[in-house]
Amino acid sequence: MRFKSQKVAWAFFATCMLLLSLQIIYGFIMGFAHAGYDNLHSVIPFNVARATHTNLLVMWLLAGFMGAAYWIIPDECDCELAWPRLAWVQLIALVVTGVTAIIGFHFNWWEGRKFLEIPRPLDFLVVIDVLLFIANIGWTIWKSPRKSTTSMVLFFGLLAAALLYLPGMIPTSNQTIDSYWRWWVVHLWVEGVWELIMGAILAYLLIKLTGVDREIIEKWLYVIVGFTFLSGILGTGHHYYYIGTPRYWLLIGGLFSALEPLAFLVMAIYAFAMAKKGGRNHPNRIALLWTVGCAFMSFVGAGFLGFAHTLPSVNMYTHGTLVTAMHGHMAFWGAYAMLIFAIISYAMPLMTGRKLYEHVSAAFAFWTANIGMVAMTLAFAVAGVAQVMLERRAGMDFLTVQKEIEVHFWGLILAACLFTVGIISFIWNFIRYGTPIALANPANNGEARAPAAEPAATVGGTE
Ligand code: HEM
Ligand code: HEM
Ligand SMILES: [Fe+2]
Repeated sequence: MRFKSQKVAWAFFATCMLLLSLQIIYGFIMGFAHAGYDNLHSVIPFNVARATHTNLLVMWLLAGFMGAAYWIIPDECDCELAWPRLAWVQLIALVVTGVTAIIGFHFNWWEGRKFLEIPRPLDFLVVIDVLLFIANIGWTIWKSPRKSTTSMVLFFGLLAAALLYLPGMIPTSNQTIDSYWRWWVVHLWVEGVWELIMGAILAYLLIKLTGVDREIIEKWLYVIVGFTFLSGILGTGHHYYYIGTPRYWLLIGGLFSALEPLAFLVMAIYAFAMAKKGGRNHPNRIALLWTVGCAFMSFVGAGFLGFAHTLPSVNMYTHGTLVTAMHGHMAFWGAYAMLIFAIISYAMPLMTGRKLYEHVSAAFAFWTANIGMVAMTLAFAVAGVAQVMLERRAGMDFLTVQKEIEVHFWGLILAACLFTVGIISFIWNFIRYGTPIALANPANNGEARAPAAEPAATVGGTE
């Protein structure tokens, strides 16, 4: 760790681990409900479990992005964070707001809009909190003489994500218009500006872990940003096919969203190419595994499985079914959850001076969680395709079909158990790393030189 203020990232990462654990519990509640055992219905009905599960996901991913930025920005800018104390305040405020929202859901205090269920007064708190975060990293970059492409893309990705939260708050009583704006947040986040955040964090990790020249890696970052904007912005149209918006969206949405996998494909090729070029010599092999794994799995989950239902002729049947859940799990896992696991795996040894990446449990966590998630995706796929055939093709009643497909959720539960074992193993390692020991060493700029010259973490937390 080069700067003392970077240690605040640890608190954000610890929050991620906590919220992810809670998210998984709610996943199991829904899994059992789908399998016919909705025993908690009177306390936690399905809609509450679902809103809690997805909002916890968004919350821990945001906490992860913030932690990543608080780690990366001082390192890239060669200076301490502008206001380290504000970062702590801002973390506490985020957790308090999030927990209030989650408790509120259990008392029917919610907005009922998928992914944006947080009640309106709390939305304002989220906006203020995120703006404080943006101000903190923005001011750090501003006062530093070193403005790298990686930190600028990360900053603008985060700023755009904060601003894009606002369209979701436009008041309207029209269902179509409400849906129209909701997608500005949900789609333009995951298939737009979050991809910039992802590209920047991947670039940072690849620079550090492969030893390939920064110039080469950052050139690819421009290509990724280009592909993302070219396809992702108008790709929003793939959510406007059948919600009451004009028909021209069928063409625009179909065409541009079909191009979206390209950005993920470029990221996957780029990560593999850089890892190969760098000779994979960095001692922290697990961080590189999560980094390259993230680029690959995001292509499978977002690119490939997204494409699978993005054409209007297919989406007409699959819209809002478990096929969507199949894609949602693998895409969020591959692109964003694995990204945060990658930065945590990279930063922890440097923060704490321990080299747990050599421990077999680190590799075990990677493979078990990933195999578990692939199996979960398959279970959702089988249930989803069966649902589409029975409900949309054969015209059976929604609830009759839900009963028919209950059996597939036992498969989901089994797969989810495997996945959970992997996650427990990751969290166990996180706990064993302990808390950061702040021995900052600004003299060492820590950048790897080809091939993989960045030294291993030594006890004492220096790089
Ligand atoms: C990391 C990137 C991505 C993530 C995290 C993601 C996640 C999701 C989630 C959670 C939903 C459900 C949203 C809702 O109903 O409110 C969804 C819907 C959808 N996604 Fe993605 N996605 C990603 C990328 C893509 C890409 C690249 C494509 C196309 C090539 C795509 C195609 C779709 C389509 C067509 C739907 C609508 C499904 C429906 O009509 O029910 N997604 N995505
Ligand atoms: C033990 C693990 C998990 C289980 C059993 C589980 C189960 C479920 C179930 C049953 C649903 C509701 C599907 C429906 O609407 O009928 C759901 C929704 C969702 N879960 Fe999970 N989940 C788990 C972990 C995760 C993880 C780790 C992620 C993200 C990385 C995730 C992301 C999502 C998303 C995005 C949705 C909404 C999908 C949509 O919009 O259709 N889940 N989950
Ligand atoms: Fe989308």
